[in-house]
Amino acid sequence: MTAEQLLLSKSAEAVSALYGAEIPASSLQLTVTRKEFEGDYTLVVFPLLKISRTSPDATGTAIGEWLVANCSEVGGFNVVKGFLNILLSPAFWTSKLSSICEKGDNVQLPSTGKTIMVEFSSPNTNKPLHLGHVRNNLLGASVSEILRAAGNKVIKTTLVNDRGVHICKSMYAWQKRFNGATPESTGKKGDHLVGDCYVEYAKMEKENPSVIDDVHKMLVDWEAGDPEVRALWQKMNNWVFEGFDQTYKALGISFDKTYYEHDTYLLGKELVRKGLEMGVFVQDPDGSVWCDLTSDGLDRKIVQRSDGTSVYITQDLGTAERRFAENNLDSHVYVVGNEQDYHFQVLKLILAKLGFEWASRIYHLSYGMVELPNGKMKSREGTVVDADDLIEEMYAQAKATSEASGKLADLPEEERDTLYRQIGLGALKYFILKVDPKKTMLFDPAESIDFNGNTGPFIQYTHARICSILRKASEKGLVPSVPEGVVPSSKEVRIIKLLSLLPSKIQEAADGLSPAVLANYAYELAKDFNQYYHDTPVLKESDRNLLSMRLALISAVSDVLKSAMRLLGIELPERM
Ligand code: ARG
Repeated sequence: MTAEQLLLSKSAEAVSALYGAEIPASSLQLTVTRKEFEGDYTLVVFPLLKISRTSPDATGTAIGEWLVANCSEVGGFNVVKGFLNILLSPAFWTSKLSSICEKGDNVQLPSTGKTIMVEFSSPNTNKPLHLGHVRNNLLGASVSEILRAAGNKVIKTTLVNDRGVHICKSMYAWQKRFNGATPESTGKKGDHLVGDCYVEYAKMEKENPSVIDDVHKMLVDWEAGDPEVRALWQKMNNWVFEGFDQTYKALGISFDKTYYEHDTYLLGKELVRKGLEMGVFVQDPDGSVWCDLTSDGLDRKIVQRSDGTSVYITQDLGTAERRFAENNLDSHVYVVGNEQDYHFQVLKLILAKLGFEWASRIYHLSYGMVELPNGKMKSREGTVVDADDLIEEMYAQAKATSEASGKLADLPEEERDTLYRQIGLGALKYFILKVDPKKTMLFDPAESIDFNGNTGPFIQYTHARICSILRKASEKGLVPSVPEGVVPSSKEVRIIKLLSLLPSKIQEAADGLSPAVLANYAYELAKDFNQYYHDTPVLKESDRNLLSMRLALISAVSDVLKSAMRLLGIELPERM
C-alpha cells in the first residue's frame, strides 16, 4: 500500500469514527503538501464540513488527532485554513528506506504480460553511421530498457535497408572507380569505404546524369537475382555490417533480432498484390501501383514503381506484417527521425486499410535533429558528423578533462583508459538523453563533460563519491543499516521521498517513451545528495544508529542512481 492509499483509507475511518458517516476513501481529496507548508500530505477538509457540521479548523484538528492516535504511520499534523497537513512518522520513513535498500540497484516493476518490439538504428548500408544515428541508437536502447523495467517483454530490433537504389549507387561507383579496393587493401573500416563510393557516385552523376539509368538497371538485375550483381552486393554489404558492428560495440548497443530488407521486400510486394485485389491500391496505366489517401487528408502514395521494383514503404508493409505475426506483439515502437513523420502516418494508414487491426498499436517515436556547434568536428555548414569520430572525440575530451583535474593520476593506466571511455560515453549519452526526444538539440562535447553541470559525469562523480564514503566506512567496520527507533532529519526525509519516486518515474518514462524523465530525476537526486553531504559529514557522526542509517541512506542513493542510469545505458564507475 502506498502512503496515499493508507492515508485515504485511514481518513475515511476517522470520518466514520468521529461523525458516524460512511464515505468511500476515493471521495476524499489528498494532495502532496505544498512546499511552503510543513507536512507530507494534505487532506482538503472543506467537502467534509457538511458531515462534521463544525468549523474547518475543528474538523481538521479532530481528524488529525484521530490519525495520530490510531495510525502509527502518522507522526503529527497541523491545520491551516481548512487544510489538514499530515506528517508521516519517522518509523514510516525508516521502513520506506529499508524497503528501498532491499530493492537494490536494478529496480523492476511487476510484469504487464505485454510484448513490445522496439525498432531503432535501421541504417541504410551505403554509408557509415552519423550523429543522427547516435541519437537514434541511444534513444532506442534506452527506451527498450525502460519498457523492460516497466514490466514488458521487449524485443530490440533493427531494420537493415540493405537493398535499393542507394546501395546500387555505391556498388556502381565501386565498379567504375575504385580498382578493386577493399577494407584490407585500404585499411579503411568497411562502412567508411562504401560511404566513399557513395560520395564518389554523387560526383559521377553530376558529371553525367545518365548514370542513374545504369543504377536503375542494376536494381532491376538485383531483383531478378543476377548472380554477379548479387555477389558484389553481398560483398559490399558485409563490409558495411562489420563496420556497423564495431560502432555498435563502441556505443554499447545490441539487438535481439535483425530484419533485412532483402528478406521482407517480397512480402511487401505480396501485400501490394493483395491490396490491389482488395481495391485498397490502384494501378496506373504505366504499371505503377498507388494508394489514394486524399480522403484521409494526405496525397497519393506510390507503393510499387512502374518497372515493378519496390519502394521504401513496400518493405515496411511486409516487415510489419512479419514482425507482428512472428513475435505475437502487443505493440511496436519505431524510433525514427521526425523527417519521416509522414512516412509513418502513411504506413499506419495503409496497414489499417489492409485490415490489420494491430496497425493502431504502432507508435512512431519521432525525434528531432541533433547538431554539433561549429568547431573542431563540424567545420563547414552541413558536414555530417561521423559516429566513430564522435566516440573518439568523447574519449579524448574525457581524457583531457580528467588529466587537467589530476583526479585519476594515481590509477593504473589500463583502469584510467576504461574510465575515460565510461566518462566520455556517459557524457554523450546523458547529454542527448536528458533532452525531450521531440526537441531539436545541439550537442556540445565540452559542455557535456563538465563535472559540475547537469551532465553524465556529474552523476558518475556523485556516485563515485558515495562509493568512496562507503569504502571508508567499511574499512572502519561500519555497515549500512536502518536501526529501529532512529529518527531521520527533515533533509533526510526529503531524500527518502525522492528515492521512493523511482518506480513512478520509470512508469512515467515508459508511458511517455522519454528517457529524459529518468535523466532529470537522477540529476535532482545527485544534486540533493551533494547538498546533503555538504551539510552533513556522514562519517563524523558519533551516534552509531544515526551513522548506520545515514550510510544506508547514501547507499540507497547510489543504488537508485545506478538503477536510473542503467536505463539510460550509462555505467557508473566506483572511482573517479
Ligand atoms: N533506413 C532508413 C533511413 O536511413 C530508416 C528506416 C527506418 N525504419 C523503418 N522501418 N522504416 O532513412
